[in-house]
Amino acid sequence: MEITKANFLCSNTDWKKCPKPNLPEYAFIGRSNVGKSSLINTLTNHKKLAKTSGKPGKTQLINHFIINDSFYLADLPGYGYAKVSKKLREEFQKFTLNYLEKRTNLICLFLLIDLRVKPQKIDTEFMEYCATKEIPFTICFTKSDKLKKAEISTNLENYKSYLLKEWESFPNYFTTSSVNKLGIDEILSFIKEYNLAFKS
Ligand code: GTP
Ligand code: MG
Repeated sequence: MEITKANFLCSNTDWKKCPKPNLPEYAFIGRSNVGKSSLINTLTNHKKLAKTSGKPGKTQLINHFIINDSFYLADLPGYGYAKVSKKLREEFQKFTLNYLEKRTNLICLFLLIDLRVKPQKIDTEFMEYCATKEIPFTICFTKSDKLKKAEISTNLENYKSYLLKEWESFPNYFTTSSVNKLGIDEILSFIKEYNLAFKS
């Protein structure tokens, strides 16, 4: 799928104020600094569509983008960032979870995980939350450009064995990089397929 048009629509904390849920939507979540906004920029081939930063905690609202006039991408605030106050963190959490639970056109939540980092409880807890609430998610392992090929395989295997201790099967996943574009075509094909299914 070629992205010919990508526009920022709005920022919100209230899911009720998000764009009319008449188009399929894909949202990006994960720990602060994992690369959510960067992945949106790489997918849409726009350097500055979503605001990125070297410092964690950049995205603090639910940001909607409309792509090819036919689907939405939503950039969400990161979780698990210790340097914002507890109150603020809880606030983020409340409106983000509300959005995830209420957004009727949310086709898939891309859950980003830094492939360089050993499995973190906060991510697996979040996966459990998604499973309980029946929120469909797909893992995107990020920053794979920082790893050698062999390290990519080892880290993937480690992640799988970690998760399969508790889970019956491993969730659908992509290995990605916003730098060398690994996995980008695969995610775009995935979105295209689900967009077609949404239409019918
Ligand atoms: P918050 O909005 O703070 O939750 O962060 P985020 O998840 O949106 O991360 P963001 O896209 O702002 O990226 C954080 C940092 O990671 C930036 O310095 C990016 O340049 C870097 N980064 C993101 N993706 C990649 C990647 O695939 N490879 C490498 N090497 N760096 C990346
Ligand atoms: Mg961000």
